[in-house]
Amino acid sequence: MKLWHSPASPFVRKVLVIAHETGQTAKLEIAEASTNAVARNEELARDNPCGKIPALVLDDGTVLFDSRVICAYLDSLHSGAKLSGPGAGGVAGYRALALEALGDAIMDAAVLTRYEQALRPAQFRWDEWEAGQVAKVNTSLDHLERRWMDLLEGPLSMGVITVGCALGYLDFRFAEMGWRESRPKLAAWFAKFSERPSMQATRP
Ligand code: BEZ
Repeated sequence: MKLWHSPASPFVRKVLVIAHETGQTAKLEIAEASTNAVARNEELARDNPCGKIPALVLDDGTVLFDSRVICAYLDSLHSGAKLSGPGAGGVAGYRALALEALGDAIMDAAVLTRYEQALRPAQFRWDEWEAGQVAKVNTSLDHLERRWMDLLEGPLSMGVITVGCALGYLDFRFAEMGWRESRPKLAAWFAKFSERPSMQATRP
């Protein structure tokens, strides 16, 4: 299977972490894709029409895209405990999905902020828009600290992995924001989570 990849992308990191956690890294052929909103990679766009990473090309040519879809697919291929999906269902199962959505939302807002800062010409910047994205990150982190530590400290799941990758991205691109300062429980959890071999092996 070919994985369209960029080492900086937290969405790609999710895919790599689940591949590590489920013993499937050897199945992945990594294809580096330099791409962004204004400089498309045409070869990647032939596989994934919106030109985004990650995209996974299966051996029969089928292409899967969106990190959630790819992670769920990889999770379907191994025989160990399942990491994605609603598990036994009920509110607890759907809360696990909501944790993944929250982690993805932090990544979305952080990546958009990064694009704004690194790509957009200075004369076109919109400070209020950027502040809105940063506010999404901050209120989501506060929510994690107040309401989600029970799941984060529980069994490994895609939600837990996603939050770990989102925090890793904040450290990578926004080290100066000091997200740990008012969130001691989240900070302590992430210090431990970061020690997992899957996280060490996928550091950007
Ligand atoms: C980044 O350079 O921060 C980045 C690259 C690809 C996807 C998302 C973020």
